[in-house]
Amino acid sequence: MSLIKLEKISKIYKMGKVNVQALYDVSLTIEKGNFTGIVGPSGSGKTTLLNILGCLDKQDSGSYFFDNQNISTLSNIETTIFRREKFGFIFQTFNLIPVLTVYENVEIPLALLGVEKRERKERIMNILKEVGIEETFNRLPSELSGGQQQRVAIARALIKNPYIIFADEPTANLDHATGSKIIELMKNLNQKLGITFVFSTHDNKIMNAANQLLILEDGKIIS
Ligand SMILES: Nc1ncnc2c1ncn2[C@@H]1O[C@H](COP(=O)(O)OP(=O)(O)OP(=O)(O)O)[C@@H](O)[C@H]1O
Ligand SMILES: [Mg+2]
Repeated sequence: MSLIKLEKISKIYKMGKVNVQALYDVSLTIEKGNFTGIVGPSGSGKTTLLNILGCLDKQDSGSYFFDNQNISTLSNIETTIFRREKFGFIFQTFNLIPVLTVYENVEIPLALLGVEKRERKERIMNILKEVGIEETFNRLPSELSGGQQQRVAIARALIKNPYIIFADEPTANLDHATGSKIIELMKNLNQKLGITFVFSTHDNKIMNAANQLLILEDGKIIS
């Protein structure tokens, strides 16, 4: 069953008098449990597409169906609630909060969802173990390696049991060996927990891990 269906999605960025069309009539489906890679040259629209898929941004035209629900028609506040409950995000630059510990960074999504403290603790320590960094729970992000920081970000994305995790070039700031380990971890979580992953990458090795590859060029899906 398809989890995501996009129909003729277009996105135009307006900058003063100049319009930049970042996506042209993009249609695609993503099945539940996929490990989907989005590839294409710089400027081809990968981030724009991921932002729309993750409801961080809205298309100018076209429809977005999630689990057969047309979510293009939701209001801003409904979209925010939907995103908070169902989606997890991993970013290229990790985006951890520097003054919070590893534990506290992973705690944020649960606090936002109103999960009580004792349950939070159990879930956080389990997830940190799952991604292999439980011993760092009391450290600040600045006291971790890049690979460890990205593991924190993965834990934060996983903690609320999302349907799907979106990752925009999750390995771009990591050396090759560390990046491969991060992808391996994502793939294991995908297979073990059945969470759907959609990620963008420039890295050929990572593309090979995908079981669906979307190739973008100049804002169009070419394959
Ligand atoms: N906020 C913005 N305002 C105006 N134009 C933008 C904005 N964001 C992206 N663009 C333009 O939209 C197009 C697609 O950009 P996008 O960031 O989606 O590409 P990308 O494939 O993620 O590139 P990269 O591999 O460099 O991250 C580019 O031409 C870019 O210049
Ligand atoms: Mg990008």
